[in-house]
Amino acid sequence: MKRNKSVVWDRIDAANLDLRGLQVAVVGGTGGIGRALSRFLASRGANVVVVGQTFRDAGTPGIEFIQADLSLMREAQRVAALLPAETLDLLVFTTGIFAAPERQETLEGIERDMAVSYLNRFAILRAIAPRLGSGQRKSPMKPRVFVMGYPGSGQIGNPDDLNAEGSYKAMAAHMNTVAGNEMLVLHAAKQYPRAAFFGLNPGLVKTNIRDNFLGKGSLKSRVTEALIGLFTPSADTYAERIAPLLVSPDIECDSGAMFNNKGAAILPSPGLTEAHIRQFMASSEALLVRVDSRARY
Ligand SMILES: NC(=O)c1ccc[n+]([C@@H]2O[C@H](COP(=O)([O-])OP(=O)(O)OC[C@H]3O[C@@H](n4cnc5c(N)ncnc54)[C@H](OP(=O)(O)O)[C@@H]3O)[C@@H](O)[C@H]2O)c1
Repeated sequence: MKRNKSVVWDRIDAANLDLRGLQVAVVGGTGGIGRALSRFLASRGANVVVVGQTFRDAGTPGIEFIQADLSLMREAQRVAALLPAETLDLLVFTTGIFAAPERQETLEGIERDMAVSYLNRFAILRAIAPRLGSGQRKSPMKPRVFVMGYPGSGQIGNPDDLNAEGSYKAMAAHMNTVAGNEMLVLHAAKQYPRAAFFGLNPGLVKTNIRDNFLGKGSLKSRVTEALIGLFTPSADTYAERIAPLLVSPDIECDSGAMFNNKGAAILPSPGLTEAHIRQFMASSEALLVRVDSRARY
C-alpha cells in the first residue's frame, strides 16, 4: 500500500477527545472492531447507535441498539429508514463476514459474503447519503461516512459476476466485496458533496471475521486468530488509534481519502478508473433491483 502524502492530519491523544453531543451510527457496531470503536466513542461522550444481530453492550451509557440481519436487503432498507441520517455526524460501516469455502446464498438469492460485507452498505448509503447533513447539527464538520474494508490493496473486483454465479472461489468472492467497498467511497465522494467519505483499512486484527471461512471454533480458526492476536494490535487498540482521525478537522476537505491501520493516508488501488467504478455501481444497483423484483412475486 502506497502512502498518500497529500493528506496529513495532526494526531491528538485519544484520551483527550471530548465527544459530548456527537451523533454516531456504527453499522456492524455489535462485534469486533465496530464494537470496540462504538464503546470507545461512547466512553468519550458520543451518542452511538449500533446495528447488528446480537447486542453485547446493554446498559453501557451512550449506546443504543437496532437489531437487523443485514444479509437481507429489505433489512438494509429498514435500517436506512430508522437511522437519524439528517442529524448524524458520523456513520461507520464495519459489518462483514468472510466468504465460506462453499458458495452460500441468502434467502434473497445473493451470495452471502457479497450481501453482508458490501451490498447492504451500498443499499443503506444509497438511501441515506442524500439526507446526510440536511438537519440541524451542532458539529462544525460535514457529516462523515467511514467505510471499513481493505482499500489500497489493489483489488478492482469483477462487476460482471457480483453474485458469484459463474464460478465460485471464496477468496475471489471476498475480494469483490473489498473492491466494492473501496469504490463505494470513491463514488460517494464525487456524488454527495454535502458529506465526506473515507475508507479505513484496519490491517489484521483478531476478531470473528474469519469464522465463516475457517469454521467457527475450529482448530484452524483458533490457531489462526491466536497467531494474529500475537502479532497485531487488538480491536480496542486499533479503535483508540483511529478515533482521533474520525473527528480530525484536518481531513475536512479530503473526502475520498483512505487510511491504513495506523491512520496514515494511503493511495486508492490503481485500476479503479471512473469507468470501472461506474460499471461496478451499475452492477450493484442491478443486483438490488433483482432482489426487489423477486420480493414482489
Ligand atoms: N479483523 C480483521 O483482521 C480485518 C482485516 C481487514 C478488514 N477487516 C474489516 O473490518 C470490518 C470489521 O470486521 P471485524 O474484524 O470487526 O469483524 P467481526 O468481529 O466479525 O464483526 C463483524 C460485525 O458484523 C456484524 N454482522 C455480521 N453478519 C451480520 C448480519 N448478517 N447482519 C448484521 N450484522 C452482521 C457482526 O454483528 P453480530 O455479531 O451482531 O452478528 C459484527 O458486529 C469488516 O469490514 C472487515 O472486512 C477486518
